[in-house]
Amino acid sequence: MTLKLSVIGTGYLGATHAACMASLGFEVIGFDTDANKIQTLSKGKVPFYEPDLEELLTAQIDSGRLKFTTQIEDLGSADVHFICVGTPQVSNGNAADLTYVNSALEAIAKFVKPGGLVVGKSTVPVGTASRLRQRLQEINSGADLAWNPEFLREGFAVEDTLKPNRLVVGVVSDKAENILKEVYATNLKENTPWVRADLPTAELVKVAANSFLATKISFINAMAEVCEASGGDVTVLAKAIGYDPRIGSRFLQAGIGFGGGCLPKDIRAFMARAEELGAKQAVEFLKEVDAINLRARQRIIELVRKDLSNDLVGKKIAVLGAAFKPDSDDVRDSPALDICAQIQAAGADVTVHDPKAIANAQKRFPGLKFSEEINQTLQDAELVLHLTEWKIYREINPAQVKALVKKAIIIDGRNALDRDLWVKAGWKFRALGRSSHE
Ligand code: UDX
Repeated sequence: MTLKLSVIGTGYLGATHAACMASLGFEVIGFDTDANKIQTLSKGKVPFYEPDLEELLTAQIDSGRLKFTTQIEDLGSADVHFICVGTPQVSNGNAADLTYVNSALEAIAKFVKPGGLVVGKSTVPVGTASRLRQRLQEINSGADLAWNPEFLREGFAVEDTLKPNRLVVGVVSDKAENILKEVYATNLKENTPWVRADLPTAELVKVAANSFLATKISFINAMAEVCEASGGDVTVLAKAIGYDPRIGSRFLQAGIGFGGGCLPKDIRAFMARAEELGAKQAVEFLKEVDAINLRARQRIIELVRKDLSNDLVGKKIAVLGAAFKPDSDDVRDSPALDICAQIQAAGADVTVHDPKAIANAQKRFPGLKFSEEINQTLQDAELVLHLTEWKIYREINPAQVKALVKKAIIIDGRNALDRDLWVKAGWKFRALGRSSHE
């Protein structure tokens, strides 16, 4: 008999997981305490932008396999319960806020069937899974708990969920592993690597992976600083070191650095947890990774100041991009928006364009000006900042838009534009980690 699954928490991770699991043929019920979210999802609408997800969600709801509820007891008939709630950074420190994970466990515990399995997917500090397993078995001795971290990237959430590059399962019993093998049978048939681990290792895999990615980005941004000081070009440097397969060319895009709902909070939570465990020194370098990342935002503001004679008051600046990365409407810890807010606070007259993230950006920074039109954004600008590398910005014809601006100066905060094209069209071109071109 096919397993029945439940998904607790229908945010980014949970909504995607629920729709993808239903598409594999499982009966899935998604739960959230947010009635608005559940209502939206039940209508086949996704409350955020993610390519391909809405089509998948609608098809699964229509098939009758996917349902949503705000009543936890409706999950009682499921065999496996995935916890997909958020673990944001606490407001008064670096640690992760485990309120939602704890309450999800408390809510589901007594509804787990004998022999049923709770599977954590949220990113948590190491040690959480063991504690939750103990608590679960205090409430319901017939239930077990496993940890199965998720590595999905925004913008590729469906692809990453259906075709993950590995599956990591933290389990205590063979029985738990076998249940998870049944859930992921399709991936196993496709030879997706399967890593069985204990609970702490499974939790650590996720934070270690994100710490490595953050370190790689900060490494190249540190090289950008050295290139700036020495007249080198970080884009050429990245290309050259990336050919070494031990290094690899991905995640070596220098620019204004990483943001979003994962990397920044995960490295901070990792540092906080390592300190609690007495292993502070081991991840001390992540402090530097964080500092390099935040410094990139200041370095680009310095470039802006240089071009505007250190006086931003009243200067009209056009910004291309607000999302923390392209193909996403997520503005959580977006380097682009942080820069916008800072230059506006210094007196600049800032107009921001983004193809998908304006509504979210407006909620966070209601004081900024937004425009849905690239041309309108550029109109009369004294400086243009390219801060999120959406494809549409690479398709801009610099010769055509030159007539719109007051001064043809562009700063490419993502090293993604074709410098020669812009320079040929008569623009002054600046970028992080490369010398200026007139
Ligand atoms: C990340 C991890 O990649 C994913 O595995 C994990 O599950 C969640 O966190 P995501 O937050 O969606 O995913 O974004 P990612 O694609 O990793 O990019 C993170 C940030 O790094 C973005 O702000 C991006 O612009 C920036 N970045 C990425 C760079 O600045 N340079 C790069 O070379 C790559």
